[in-house]
Amino acid sequence: MDRPRITIFDTTLRDGEQSPGCSMNVQEKLHLAQQLDRLGVDVIEAGFPIASDGDFEAVQRIAASVRRPIIAALARACAGDVDRAWQALQGTARSRIHVFLATSDIHLKYKLRITRAQCLEQAREAVRRAKSLCADVEFSPEDATRTEVAFLCQVVEAVIAAGATTVNIPDTVGYSMPEEYGQLIRTLREKVAGIDKVTISTHCHNDLGLAVANSLAGVQQGARQVECTINGIGERAGNASLEEVVMAMRVRPDRYAYETAISGEQLFASSQMLAEITRVPVQPHKAITGRNAFAHEAGIHQDGMLKNPLTYEIMTPQSVGVPDSRLVLGKHSGRHALALRCEQLGHQFERRELDEVYRKFVVLADRIKKVQDSHLLELMQDVIRGDVSSGNGDAAGSQGKKFPPAAATSPYPRAASAAAGGNGHESHPAQVSGSAGPAQARPGHPAPANWFGGAPAPVADHHSEQEDYLWGV
Ligand code: KIV
Ligand code: ZN
Repeated sequence: MDRPRITIFDTTLRDGEQSPGCSMNVQEKLHLAQQLDRLGVDVIEAGFPIASDGDFEAVQRIAASVRRPIIAALARACAGDVDRAWQALQGTARSRIHVFLATSDIHLKYKLRITRAQCLEQAREAVRRAKSLCADVEFSPEDATRTEVAFLCQVVEAVIAAGATTVNIPDTVGYSMPEEYGQLIRTLREKVAGIDKVTISTHCHNDLGLAVANSLAGVQQGARQVECTINGIGERAGNASLEEVVMAMRVRPDRYAYETAISGEQLFASSQMLAEITRVPVQPHKAITGRNAFAHEAGIHQDGMLKNPLTYEIMTPQSVGVPDSRLVLGKHSGRHALALRCEQLGHQFERRELDEVYRKFVVLADRIKKVQDSHLLELMQDVIRGDVSSGNGDAAGSQGKKFPPAAATSPYPRAASAAAGGNGHESHPAQVSGSAGPAQARPGHPAPANWFGGAPAPVADHHSEQEDYLWGV
């Protein structure tokens, strides 16, 4: 049976750009729009043309050069905005005017200072005007989730009658809970005349960390468009993250049996491009595209990964465009991962020798923040030569010679036991930045380019902490 198709409406260039520190110039927006096209999004919200001449030009340039996806432009519910949006969309292969007007009493009373009756009329009139210009019209009742449900139904019914083809239900302030948001979509489907003729859309903000969960709950209750952004950027705490919504559906088709046209292999590149353009790094533990999303440090995990990646990964890194998993050599690592890295650096050890390398390695990993391949090579040479002085926990031996003193490089507190050769248990992992090594076969999986490092270009040279993870550069 065919799975329902979910339209992915990307608003990175509009709502995402409203994220503090994430504004982009025209050229950057165009560059990202081309990547969104490669990614396979169905709709690109390119900007809010009335907001500035730059935004107007960005929409125009994107409209002229990105031809496959629908290009949407945002407009408040008034003639000037709608006309300006339409003007910017001239020359588009497929265009959409996206009209919005707040409907909650809080917004009507304090922000717009209009009555519900005026709101209803303004929404209807703006949609009529948009429809007279463009066949594809979306309407968003801003702050829908804090709007009285009966009034929301009335507004939605009115804009459908006026010609809206998509009705978007924004959780503007990220207030909703998943069950509640799903129930709201269900109520609209049950109560609003004509709702079956339009596409229902989700637009969820992340103030309580529930944007993705709410979007998925909406889809389960019949929404067929999800509005989202790369890396989840957007106003305040952001929007639903595109990569998380898409991969949740892909990894759990038993729960979310829906299709999207997204090319998973382009997710990582899109995330990196956005981080590079905005200079806002991706948080390390960000699902799907964060630097730790496919990194394993604990020895037990590394051992499992080396035996079969299914033990600790629910999707392959390649499925989201990450070249390969990464085993981070830190103090939590085990002998298996260390032995593999030693082999990649050209040394195979007997069990006893490996124990010695391992002992030195753990002491060193506990002392310095980053253990480079060069350090590892020295440790190995010491073991080969039978030198017991380095990395053995003796302060004079290790600090005086080759390795940087612990306190000089690490901003993290170190357990006193490290100096005594013990194993402190801070949560921060010491990392090895390995250079490329030979490919290793993985049971049931294609051989990786390099477990410890390898491929993609660093995001930019402005946040070195972030680059360090980049697959062992
Ligand atoms: O969050 C919101 O309500 C919006 C609308 C303009 C759709 O971004
Ligand atoms: Zn929004």
